[in-house]
Amino acid sequence: EEIYRKNNIYQINREAAFYYYKNLVKEANKGLNYLFERGLSIKTIKKFGLGYAKDAWEALNNYLLSKGYDQESIFKAGLVLERKKRNGYYDRFRNRVMFPIINTTGKVIGFGGRVIDNNEPKYLNSPETIAFNKGNNLFGLNLAKNEVIKMKQIIVVEGYMDVIGLYERGIKNVVASLGTALTKNQANLLKRYADEVIIAYDADTAGQAATLRGLDILREVGCRVRVVRLSEGKDPDEFVRKKGKEAFLKEVENALSLIDYKIVLSKEENDLTNPEGKVKFVKSLTQILKQLKSPVEIDAYIKKIAQESQISPEAIKAEIYGNNRYNN
Ligand code: CTP
Ligand code: MN
Ligand code: MN
Ligand code: MN
Ligand code: MN
Repeated sequence: EEIYRKNNIYQINREAAFYYYKNLVKEANKGLNYLFERGLSIKTIKKFGLGYAKDAWEALNNYLLSKGYDQESIFKAGLVLERKKRNGYYDRFRNRVMFPIINTTGKVIGFGGRVIDNNEPKYLNSPETIAFNKGNNLFGLNLAKNEVIKMKQIIVVEGYMDVIGLYERGIKNVVASLGTALTKNQANLLKRYADEVIIAYDADTAGQAATLRGLDILREVGCRVRVVRLSEGKDPDEFVRKKGKEAFLKEVENALSLIDYKIVLSKEENDLTNPEGKVKFVKSLTQILKQLKSPVEIDAYIKKIAQESQISPEAIKAEIYGNNRYNN
């Protein structure tokens, strides 16, 4: 019964994706122009099955009804909303470019839609349904899967356009965590396909906070993880458009380990020219140093932190292991 209802939603979603896709490519329209302006080729647009939801109230609903789907099912799929004042339903997504979210078995589980003007909200997603749980899925994994297995590495970004923009320039081992902070299920999904996860979130405070949470969750599930801090542009899509494929790959190559990332952040937060700042800097890092498994690694980082702060390695060791050793 549950499976039957899920399959029904997948089917309706597939039909909706087909409809949005036809809207986009059949005739010249605002949606297609928008995607071209953002540097996407028709090949990539087709690969991701992108679409356009018309600027109309019932276009999709009428289409799906005409295909024989019942109103209740269309509603359960999250594609329409109930009218408040009179009977009937209206399309959830209107005048937006559409991003179908497809799972690794090829089912269309939901959609994201982006405005093509300056309306709010910029992005709108399908609601959680019995067939769609945001936190259990990663956008783009259906297309990235094979490349990820080959490369043993997966890059996680925030948004649809980051995945697609990188794909357009030939970087295909990329998925998005769908705007949410990475969940444990998503972390496990990443781990299933890759040996190493590279976090490449937006270069703003929200992105940084999400990076820190993501690092914790990925470490919890036992992932090798490194972090890209973009040197230019606000997100991977902007970066790759401005600087190109090779420059982005260089950023990935130079991605920071957990501890190096935290050293960089702590350096920015604390003034290392005064004693108080130095103390805060060292203390912020000792907890993380303790979690390193290799004594050689710990030693190397103690030396690095000592150099940055001009505090002796012995004092830093004592801070990590407790004062007794230092005193003895
Ligand atoms: N997102 C969302 N709902 C929002 C805002 C964002 O679901 N109201 C998700 C979307 O998956 C989006 C991602 O978070 O792709 C990244 O959001 P953001 O960085 O704000 O997108 P921008 O890079 O600003 O979007 P664009 O490049 O399309 O202008
Ligand atoms: Mn934004
Ligand atoms: Mn952002
Ligand atoms: Mn962007
Ligand atoms: Mn962004």
